[in-house]
Amino acid sequence: MGKKAVYPGSFDPITNGHIDILERSTRMFDRVVLAILGNPAKDSVFPLAGRLRMARESVGDMAGVTVETFQGLLVDFLVQQKADVIIRGIRAVSDFEYEFQMAMMNRRLNSRIETVYLMPSESYFYLSSHLVHEVASLNGDVTGLVPAGVQKILEGKYGPGKGRK
Ligand code: PNS
Repeated sequence: MGKKAVYPGSFDPITNGHIDILERSTRMFDRVVLAILGNPAKDSVFPLAGRLRMARESVGDMAGVTVETFQGLLVDFLVQQKADVIIRGIRAVSDFEYEFQMAMMNRRLNSRIETVYLMPSESYFYLSSHLVHEVASLNGDVTGLVPAGVQKILEGKYGPGKGRK
């Protein structure tokens, strides 16, 4: 059956940094489930259905990858998926504290599940969905930071980017 991992997140929207981590994880695992959080408590810019559509289109037919949504505890989703590894991307030191807390809490909730951290290409070290929204909403250029389909949707929402200076 091979080793299966879950790559969870808000993916609001999916960026090229996420795709980079996903590609790296497919080299380590036979199957990877990109899992989009649908908890109503967490505010998101795009609704779950939109985030799912953008992620599915961006992932395309990448071998071994499926895109799903989940509600509730992440560790419960892993059990349901028969997976025991969580993939997370880590960028700068500033990500560490939040990631450390999450990994420890998930371990407390289910000690059989491990979290594996992968570092994206340095070109995406500063990239986040939040910054993408901010730049796109101020008509800055997000070319190369998000998949082409996501860029189109951002332009539909905020208007076209002005291009790089
Ligand atoms: O992209 P994000 O917002 O950093 O992803 C955070 C995510 C979805 C991984 C995290 O919020 C999560 O796992 N939520 C599910 C609820 C849960 O299991 N909480 C306890 C573990 S800290």
